[in-house]
Amino acid sequence: MKLLVTAGPTREPIDPVRFISNRSSGKMGYAVAELARKRGHSVVLISGPVSIESPRGVKLIKVITAEEMFSAVKRNVNWCDALVMAAAVADWRPAKSSGKKIKKDQMPASLPLARNPDILMAVGPQKGKRIFVGFAAETGNLRAEALRKLRLKKLDMIVANDVGRPDAGFEVDTNRVAFYFAGGKHEQLPLMRKKQVAERIVKWLEKSNSFRR
Ligand code: CTP
Repeated sequence: MKLLVTAGPTREPIDPVRFISNRSSGKMGYAVAELARKRGHSVVLISGPVSIESPRGVKLIKVITAEEMFSAVKRNVNWCDALVMAAAVADWRPAKSSGKKIKKDQMPASLPLARNPDILMAVGPQKGKRIFVGFAAETGNLRAEALRKLRLKKLDMIVANDVGRPDAGFEVDTNRVAFYFAGGKHEQLPLMRKKQVAERIVKWLEKSNSFRR
């Protein structure tokens, strides 16, 4: 299979020293990329700034902002059989970013923001027979929000995790997730290492892809 994986946060610059970002560590997406490569698949990994080494044999495309991630996904999506959007894309960016450091007494009291593109929504028309997997990180209404995003973004599967818990979600090595599928089924997994969650995702992709051939 040809797998396109996104991972990590994006950073939206305010000026050369400050940015808006989020707590994504990239661990989940990197685990998917690494495991898929080990199972013999071709993997392109589009990654925001993280402190994890690139998995061996994976083509790594480094990006910083959501706009850069968007153009990298657009350029590579036609190549893939499956897209796994594990990245935590910043939904907003500063409306203007300064080329020079803003001195503290020039800092405005509020920071005007602009919406970033929703990458999954934007590449929807390029889906064809490709398998699209999304993630939903929530602190409430996990099931309802996961199902809303599954339908809205026309995904085949969404991996839902409750990031309000200390042992799941951002930064940690473990995750407690539920898979929701386009066909209506769902599967709640127990607390697992992210590498084990990655294995479940990749094996499901292999099975689904074999049905589509
Ligand atoms: N996503 C994306 N582009 C964005 C934001 C999110 O492609 N600008 C993708 C994520 O990679 C993830 C899925 O959409 O696979 C759901 O992301 P999430 O941040 O949970 O949802 P949002 O659509 O941003 O919704 P909300 O902010 O209302 O929770």
